[in-house]
Amino acid sequence: MCGIVGYLGEEKALGVLLEGLKRLEYRGYDSAGVALVSGERLHVVKSVGKIRELERALRDVEPEGTIHLGIGHTRWATHGRPSEANAHPHVAGPIALVHNGIIENYLEIKRELEEEGYTFLSDTDSEVVARLIFHHYGGDLFEAVREALKRLKGAYALAVISEEEPNCLVGARKDSPLVLGLGEGEFFLASDIPAILPFTRRVLLLNNGDKVLITPQGVSIVDEAGVAVERPVQRIMWSIAQAEKAGYKHFMQKEIFEQPRALADTLRSYISPEKGEVYFPQAALDDASRWRRVTMVACGTSWHAALVGRVWLEPLVGVPVEVDIASEFRARDPALDGDSLAIFISQSGETADTLAALRLARGKGARTLAVCNVVGSSISREAHGVIYTHAGPEIGVASTKAFVTQMVVLYLLALRLASDRGRMEKEEVSRRLGVLLSLPGKMEEVLAREGEIEGLAREYFQVKDFLYLGRWLNYPIALEGALKLKEISYIHAEGYPAGEMKHGPIALIEEGLPVVAIAPRDRVYDKMVANVEEVKSRDGEVIGVGTQGDPLGQRVDRFLSIPPVDEELTPFLTVLPLQLLAYFIADRKGCDVDQPRNLAKSVTVG
Ligand code: F6R
Repeated sequence: MCGIVGYLGEEKALGVLLEGLKRLEYRGYDSAGVALVSGERLHVVKSVGKIRELERALRDVEPEGTIHLGIGHTRWATHGRPSEANAHPHVAGPIALVHNGIIENYLEIKRELEEEGYTFLSDTDSEVVARLIFHHYGGDLFEAVREALKRLKGAYALAVISEEEPNCLVGARKDSPLVLGLGEGEFFLASDIPAILPFTRRVLLLNNGDKVLITPQGVSIVDEAGVAVERPVQRIMWSIAQAEKAGYKHFMQKEIFEQPRALADTLRSYISPEKGEVYFPQAALDDASRWRRVTMVACGTSWHAALVGRVWLEPLVGVPVEVDIASEFRARDPALDGDSLAIFISQSGETADTLAALRLARGKGARTLAVCNVVGSSISREAHGVIYTHAGPEIGVASTKAFVTQMVVLYLLALRLASDRGRMEKEEVSRRLGVLLSLPGKMEEVLAREGEIEGLAREYFQVKDFLYLGRWLNYPIALEGALKLKEISYIHAEGYPAGEMKHGPIALIEEGLPVVAIAPRDRVYDKMVANVEEVKSRDGEVIGVGTQGDPLGQRVDRFLSIPPVDEELTPFLTVLPLQLLAYFIADRKGCDVDQPRNLAKSVTVG
């Protein structure tokens, strides 16, 4: 989730690139860089930190004269920590490249190029792409890019220049966005529309698989099959603030809709479905056969991901799995030893209680593993190993896309540990990975029903209390649904394991109380249906979340459906309508959705 910009035209490229990068800074900001071609020389300046650090660095080395060609990048680290070496642009011979996305097979290509004598300066997948293009370069940059891309698996948006071709800017995209801006005698490339809005409102949206060659004479595009194509010019009417949210009203809404992409990116980084393998960095797991016990520690939404993870891990891995809220873990002086794997889950990687819990566990000799979204964050640095989620920057205070990526990492961890401990055959891992790959499409189907959920929000936004019920894998989803609602709409909401109803909460049921019952087709379905009847017979109003076409739809007052999916994977789908319900209710109430009262995105005090 980085931001990229490219420019070819009559203006000074540097000013355009910096202005564009500032507009993308909200997407990622751990390092930045530009490459400019002047007098057939490439000038590359990079710095760690925000764009203003890059501007400072440029003050000393800005090349003279009017430069008309350049590319720029602002980075949100995925492969390799934030550092100057890992910052873009990456240079190989006369070529400089900026990249957004994740290349799945970069290690394989890197090995081959190393055998050919190439050396690498960074840990990034992007540098591998730059060297691969250089490897194919014989003076025609567009041709070299097209040749190199044939080898790549994964997602990318690229902008590439060569000091030998000062009139040529090349772009390409697959599963990562890239737009082309058309000015008067000038052209822009960018990962996101906000970067080019200060300069032009005329854009071409490139299709998946498109490659584009830009010269002062114009633009030529070839599609995935290599056929020359034209893409329609569109006029963007958004304001810059709207464009940052890609036209959505709030970042939270945008992030909810980004979840299929976030899940796919995270999967892509760690799996080979053909081989039935899950790749995690070696340091992450150490010796998987050693663990006699797993403990997971987190706060808030990340704790809910841990609760889901336990349901997967315990039976598949065959060891006891405990889950703790970080502040409670710290308080109770837990018994841990060298046979324990302690996993700390945090979007920000800075949550004070989770960090303190990690230090406590390390002090007791446990092996520690971080599951984090922010590369280089405190928790990711202090743990023995780290697995990154690839949700991209999460800006809305209420966590959404980080949650689904945390869940998928924990599911992959369960498969990997089960396989390493000889409890699951490769064929079964392979089958399950195949099913996981179908999830983003199913998530899109659920999200496409937003209109229905918005309608529901209109009916319920004035209600004072909500109850959320679930069992087994969907008990944590009930907690998550209730948390989303209370934190952004300030409506009181409780999540409960449905089996606990009779032990107290059933006393709350009265006429009109909305009860969200999460009851997809799974092993606890019949019991959930019984709970629904209990609520109905006491005049509660049931909003059912269940499987498409299920008779439950006829028994409840409102029904939000998910497509059929393996019973183990329902949380990836059931959480989506609950996020949308909370979002639309909060918006309807006029709440500040992205910055709810009293809350901070990263809780750095314990
Ligand atoms: C809820 C939410 C919080 C965080 C919690 C932990 O929507 O965002 O509950 O999940 O503060 O934060 P991280 O994951 O950054 O440690």
